[in-house]
Amino acid sequence: MSEQKSEHKPRVLSGVQPTGNLHLGNYLGAIRNFVALQESHECLYCVVDLHAITVFQDPAELAANTREVAAAFIAAGVDPKNHIVFNQAQVPHHAELAWVLNCVARMGWLNRMTQFKEKAGKDREKASVGLYVYPNLMAADILLYQATHVPVGEDQKQHLELARDIAQKFNNDFNAEGFFPQPEPLIQGPATRVMSLRDGTKKMSKSDPSDLSRITMLDSADEIAKKIRKAKTDPDVLPAHEGALEGRPEAANLLGIYAALAEQSVSAAVGQFAGQQFSALKEALAELAIAKIAPIGDEMRRLNADPGAVDAILADGAERARALAEPVMADVRKLVGFLGG
Ligand code: TRP
Repeated sequence: MSEQKSEHKPRVLSGVQPTGNLHLGNYLGAIRNFVALQESHECLYCVVDLHAITVFQDPAELAANTREVAAAFIAAGVDPKNHIVFNQAQVPHHAELAWVLNCVARMGWLNRMTQFKEKAGKDREKASVGLYVYPNLMAADILLYQATHVPVGEDQKQHLELARDIAQKFNNDFNAEGFFPQPEPLIQGPATRVMSLRDGTKKMSKSDPSDLSRITMLDSADEIAKKIRKAKTDPDVLPAHEGALEGRPEAANLLGIYAALAEQSVSAAVGQFAGQQFSALKEALAELAIAKIAPIGDEMRRLNADPGAVDAILADGAERARALAEPVMADVRKLVGFLGG
């Protein structure tokens, strides 16, 4: 295993797809961590529009959703001046490196990707080729900036493992030991898996037909309160020990969300509500969720009202991202043997 070379300075990169309905799972599982990492790392946060079109997107909605994700980053506290906020399509190097990596990654590696199997569903023949090679594009996003740390949800760990394998094979194939670092996943905090409010065994999802299943980042205080009030529960009082959450997915989910929003451990949240009714937890959770989420939604609406300002931030971010990407890509072209400067 080639260890990360010390010349790679710590650099964070992550991406969020602009597919609409940004929800509490996106916030707690990804965006909030992006904000915290800015204190300690140089960070690039990418709206991955190239990934989004692996399933068909209405073009006008794709543009609106791209701005909305950028607005969510900024509203949540990402600083686009000291760090880089951009959309993938404005940096053509992502697609260029992805092609090279398509030729490094093996079919057998991609065939193991569980997310492709889930997303392609039963009729795999009808999935886009892009959906199949999606993890190679994700590897390109990361390796293009020689990123060392990648905040992701649990569901992306397998893709990150693949990025590590691709980095290593590229380095071996082209005799460039340590050229691409081995990127590390950063999976932080409780409630990185936020589940549906209607079914504690299913992930909170942008595509769940029930609006009540998710709290979106643009929900008003009233909508947040209503969705928490209507969240599914079970007939028992809340447990006294974290271990007793086993087999109680709704209790685990609501306590997990509470803990994540309160920035405390799940066991501390369990202790706080031990033996109480769900109604007490719901009341406290609604208040906390409104305090944390509603102001971000307000700021997103303010930014969404001025799309020119968001576009200017993305253009500036893309320019700075291209400046980082170009020398790495120039090295890749040379290593592979492509002619041209
Ligand atoms: N595949 C990731 C997801 O769906 C999004 C993503 C694309 C990403 N490129 C990335 C995440 C690079 C981290 C790093 O959540």
